Amino acid sequence: MIDEFYPTERVRGLRPTAVNRVLQAARKVEARGRSLVSLMRGQPDTPTPSHIVEAAIRSMRDGRTGYADNRGEPALRRAVAEKLRRDQGLTYDPDREILITDGATLGIAIALGAMVDDGHRGVMLPDPIYDAYAGPISLWGARTTVIPAEIEDGRFTLTRHGLERVWTTLVDPILLNTPWNPVGTVMTRDELTNILEFAVHEYHDHAIISDEIYETLVYDGRKHVSPASISDDARQRTIVINSLSKTYAMTGWRVGYCAGPEPFVSAMFLILQQMSRGPATFVQDAAAVALTADQECTRRMAVEYQGRRDQVVDRLSGIPGVQPMVPEGGLFVMVDIRGLGRKSEDVSRFLMAEAGVVVIHGSAYGEQGEGTLRVSFAAGGETLDLGLERLRDGLLRLANASGKKG
Ligand SMILES: Cc1ncc(COP(=O)(O)O)c(C=O)c1O
Repeated sequence: MIDEFYPTERVRGLRPTAVNRVLQAARKVEARGRSLVSLMRGQPDTPTPSHIVEAAIRSMRDGRTGYADNRGEPALRRAVAEKLRRDQGLTYDPDREILITDGATLGIAIALGAMVDDGHRGVMLPDPIYDAYAGPISLWGARTTVIPAEIEDGRFTLTRHGLERVWTTLVDPILLNTPWNPVGTVMTRDELTNILEFAVHEYHDHAIISDEIYETLVYDGRKHVSPASISDDARQRTIVINSLSKTYAMTGWRVGYCAGPEPFVSAMFLILQQMSRGPATFVQDAAAVALTADQECTRRMAVEYQGRRDQVVDRLSGIPGVQPMVPEGGLFVMVDIRGLGRKSEDVSRFLMAEAGVVVIHGSAYGEQGEGTLRVSFAAGGETLDLGLERLRDGLLRLANASGKKG
């Protein structure tokens, strides 16, 4: 046994994600005998559709348990190409322009690995944003240029002006997430066109890394638009990252994919081979079935989660100093609590300790997230009913304490 272990500089730059930090705190509170309801995680509680489960079982029974093709099984790469053509009108060569990864997590890590470095290539990142991007950015030694999101018409957005204001170098890739965790914005074609115009401005040359993991969880008749579909030029500078985790309720299956121009994908493939031999072969077979079968299951999920979203917005309405923001997609409602006059982290701590409900403070997702709470509706049924009852009660107590009147 080594006497003393000194982690490397690289490791010292890492922190657990907000969900993991809050989970640790919640376990301590539960160990003291307090019951907690979690409205925190982005894990759909609806089951993986049975035709996908059956496909995995069939494949396993057929002996599909050996190493998979390192790029991903050819049938799954073809299924990804077919899906991207069907949904976004995008054409990719499954042999050269598509990779299969262990969830979007690995796709994001290898895309960043191919595009940033510890010299002059950092990354432009919206704020607030899914905090787990910070880990791989830090591991690759890159700096981050924060793009503060602006609230326009009650929704977070990125504006051309906002991008120009923080712009420093011509080559940093821009990391986008639409539908956007945590804020729930589904970027419109116009918004994406503006961002792409910025990316190809005469003095700029930015690649886009586009995480589209919530693509089918979009509400009120909206449609997801991939930045790659904006123009031929956009396609040539965009890496699409996706996974089956959220869209087919397959978080534990660990299967995702990337699509992009061949030079990007070749570089990513080299990194991928150092880190993984890919998802299990039978998981890839099931994923191919998921992507190519009838998509009714994803439409049903969107209806279910839209209902839950409405339930959250409804239950949190009418609390003085508190305003739920209606998300257009994803699994979270951002609740504006600026009217309570307290830091979001203090509010989430109070809610855990005093009201027995766990949500994440918006500041965990960046400075622009301060003044908000992220409330997940990935869990429904009794968990959501009870969680919302406790959340409403806790927020009302804080509103009363701050002298707010309805
Ligand atoms: C925006 C975003 N990207 C990526 C992931 C991770 O996805 P996967 O399960 O495919 O690794 C999550 C999970 O919460 C997420 O919210």
